[in-house]
Amino acid sequence: MGKRSKALGLLTAAVLTVGMAGCGSEGGSGGGSELDVGIVLPTKDEPRWVQDETRFQDALADSDYTTEILFSQGSSAKEKENVETLISKGMDVLIIAPHDGAAAGSAVEAAKDEGITVISYDRLITDTDSVDYYVTFDSVAVGEAQGQYLVDNAEGSGIPLYLYAGAASDNNAFLFFEGAWNVLQPKIADGTFVIANSSEAEALKDKSELSREELGSILGQVTTNWDPSEAKNKAETHLTSAGADMKGNVSILAPNDGTARSIADVFATDGAITDYTITGQDAEKASIQYIIDSKQSMTVFKDVRTLVEDAMGMAVDVLDGNTPETTATYDNGSMEVNAKQTDVIVVDQENVQSELVDSGYYEASEFEGLE
Ligand code: BGC
Repeated sequence: MGKRSKALGLLTAAVLTVGMAGCGSEGGSGGGSELDVGIVLPTKDEPRWVQDETRFQDALADSDYTTEILFSQGSSAKEKENVETLISKGMDVLIIAPHDGAAAGSAVEAAKDEGITVISYDRLITDTDSVDYYVTFDSVAVGEAQGQYLVDNAEGSGIPLYLYAGAASDNNAFLFFEGAWNVLQPKIADGTFVIANSSEAEALKDKSELSREELGSILGQVTTNWDPSEAKNKAETHLTSAGADMKGNVSILAPNDGTARSIADVFATDGAITDYTITGQDAEKASIQYIIDSKQSMTVFKDVRTLVEDAMGMAVDVLDGNTPETTATYDNGSMEVNAKQTDVIVVDQENVQSELVDSGYYEASEFEGLE
């Protein structure tokens, strides 16, 4: 107990300290052979999740808790294996961002069977009642911010709108698209935008609220699967088949930074595209450089330090025998999961310096062209 309370103070201090050197994947120097917290992240191939690893390491550098971080490399089988490895090490709490929200059910059920507390991290694990808590950003607000940015930057009417979405195996992809649709749909209905690349979205353009199935039918057409090269191929196909009326000054809903950069690159090389506005999310360093260079219009900054702090705070509460505080609930198809939700911030050229550099999230020296 004493150890735990002390460690919480250290954890909080460490979370507030930015830019500390990370330790190895084994955080903490704590006592026995038992693993306090196991952390499973979806893939090292996307900078977004490497950010999470780094922020966990920063937060845990001085903590007394034993932790271990494993990556699933975009495979549900590897994810299950990771969870089993951590179970065999005696973990008490599992923090997991699933690769595929539904497929992760069997991994967390195995953990639950061992009495382990399961915290779904950023992405909701669906269709199982084996999730204890969920820490997340406000994902509908992420999509709304993306849609609002396109609306705010739209001039005139009849603007071609290219829609892209995340992977249908990720519940967040639905929430992001739903949020964007909330804001974009009235502006499609009034003729400000004309959908350029989705007959399914076109068929639903007069509906302000879409069912999961309807969202799924649009996602089926415009998914990137969170894969930048799939996004690139889709964008190329769309521009090849687009007529002259769907070129010129266009708006692009890109679901995250990785896909935004590859879609932007395709649009930038089409001579008939005179200008484009494109969204993103995650504040990945490469996209911050794209924003500085006017190649990407905006990103949604999700402060991973807060998510890490919330997830570890919950884990510590559980280890101490306390009930974590939650602020919302999410329906995962099987149950209402108690959740803690965090706000997001829109970043573009105007506020990149104040939000991301002056705030200490990144260093100015990591970018070219920032004062
Ligand atoms: C996360 C995003 C991320 C995407 C692709 C989503 O679940 O919320 O931050 O860009 O997955 O990894």
